[in-house]
Amino acid sequence: MTTNRTFTMIKPDAVAEGHSGAIIKIIEEAGFRIVAIKKVHLTKERAGQFYAVHQERPFYDGLTTYMSSGPIVPMILEKDNAVADFRKLIGATNPAQAEEGTIRKQFAKSMEANAIHGSDSDENAKIESDFFFAGLEQF
Ligand code: PPS
Repeated sequence: MTTNRTFTMIKPDAVAEGHSGAIIKIIEEAGFRIVAIKKVHLTKERAGQFYAVHQERPFYDGLTTYMSSGPIVPMILEKDNAVADFRKLIGATNPAQAEEGTIRKQFAKSMEANAIHGSDSDENAKIESDFFFAGLEQF
């Protein structure tokens, strides 16, 4: 496992509103290399599998309904200290607490429609990357 990669998804609200390009520009300008990228529309069942770790949480049903409500843009990104640096770039889960200059400050609307996901550990980055991308798609 490489420890200089992270996984992200631009979420349905940001994709639907045409912010994918602007968000990718911010990510690249922050020094991340795109290792893999595509656009997919998850079923609710597949979204549920991705967020299975949260299945006991009260927001699980709403989150999986939302994440299957439209296309998303999953990506694998590479940079030194990728997981921590990317979490800093996207800002807090709750956009009301996201710092100025972060992606969520600019594009998120709520805890649910918060524009973008970022892995919280190297281990989860690998698991989440493999959920969306076959080995041949990661280069
Ligand atoms: S935690 O408590 O640290 O495990 O959770 P957190 O990382 O903050 O959030 C995990 C994902 O769940 C989403 N989330 C919510 N969705 C809807 N409603 C509420 N209240 C809510 N709270 C958290 C949040 O956007 C996270 O999505 P990802 O894709 O992991 O960023």
